[in-house]
Amino acid sequence: QMADSLFIINNFARDYFVKTLFETDEGQNVGLSYFEERGFSEEIIRKFQLGYALNLREAFVREAQHKGYNLEYLQKTGLVTVRNDQPIDNYRGRVIFPIHNQSGKVLGFGARILVKSDRAPKYINSPENDIYVKSKVLYGTYFARHAIDKLDECLLVEGYTDVISLHQAGIENVVASSGTSLTTDQLRLIKKYTNNLTILYDGDNAGIKAALRGLDMAIEEGLNVKLALVPDKEDPDSYVRKIGAEAFRQFIADNKQDFILFKLHVSMKEAGNDSTRKSQLVNEIAETIARIDKVEDFTRQQDYIRQCSQLLKIDEERLVDLVNKFIR
Ligand code: GTP
Ligand code: MN
Ligand code: MN
Ligand code: MN
Ligand code: MN
Repeated sequence: QMADSLFIINNFARDYFVKTLFETDEGQNVGLSYFEERGFSEEIIRKFQLGYALNLREAFVREAQHKGYNLEYLQKTGLVTVRNDQPIDNYRGRVIFPIHNQSGKVLGFGARILVKSDRAPKYINSPENDIYVKSKVLYGTYFARHAIDKLDECLLVEGYTDVISLHQAGIENVVASSGTSLTTDQLRLIKKYTNNLTILYDGDNAGIKAALRGLDMAIEEGLNVKLALVPDKEDPDSYVRKIGAEAFRQFIADNKQDFILFKLHVSMKEAGNDSTRKSQLVNEIAETIARIDKVEDFTRQQDYIRQCSQLLKIDEERLVDLVNKFIR
């Protein structure tokens, strides 16, 4: 009941924002020009149902109430706020990215400011409610699922615009975590389509840290995780526009590395010659390797033990013992 009402309102809002983008002067001059400047084609704008919210206080809420939508439900979707007893639009002068579930129904929205400002956040995202549970959603799943299944690989990026630009470049097996760290439910969603996850994050420190945080969980879920870091100051969206679709594919192929070995390299570099840190990291890597399912993936586990003990210059036997200690 509540869920149905929220879906109906979001559906109406999606159509309203698309119409505003293409059919109003402000939508065309401000919204469409913004997307065009970013290199988005009309085809891709239509496919992802991108829209525009007018820079007015109550353009949307008037329309919605005129249609008879209940104010309480409008507030639950986050589209409308009540301030001093006045309902006002939450998204004003922003471009709109609808967030879909796996069957294409609209769960919520991301709304991006056009010009960066210190006074307002870059993106305003829908709040959680009966239909939108952020920890269970990956942006783009609806558009990516067939390609993920066919290619048996899922690319994971950080942002909405990364997903959209890669689609435009013909790379369609891609979803976004929307700037938060991965959850078990999101990993299980990926596992419905493939066991192979390739993380494509920014090469800055925050990107690397975010990627590493997801590692142990992903391995526990039985995913085979690879990582390719895009060069500093770039993200997949900017980088694919810079070098083109073919070169970007080649970049992934050339730079894709095993995630466990990547983690080991990073930690070894950090530890340097500090022997306490070193034995700590041997323990950590043993704990990670122990998360690989020994029954289903025995050979994989053995491969990691061999490769990691070589990199660490320790006895294979010692690593085997450590790994076994962590297996519950
Ligand atoms: P562009 O700047 O439009 O290219 O977006 P981006 O996707 O590159 O943004 P960024 O790398 O800064 O952030 C990645 C993702 O984190 C975004 O797509 C959003 O989902 C989310 N995000 C970014 N900024 C904000 C913010 O100010 N508030 C919230 N709630 N989420 C944000
Ligand atoms: Mn499959
Ligand atoms: Mn970053
Ligand atoms: Mn970006
Ligand atoms: Mn980015």
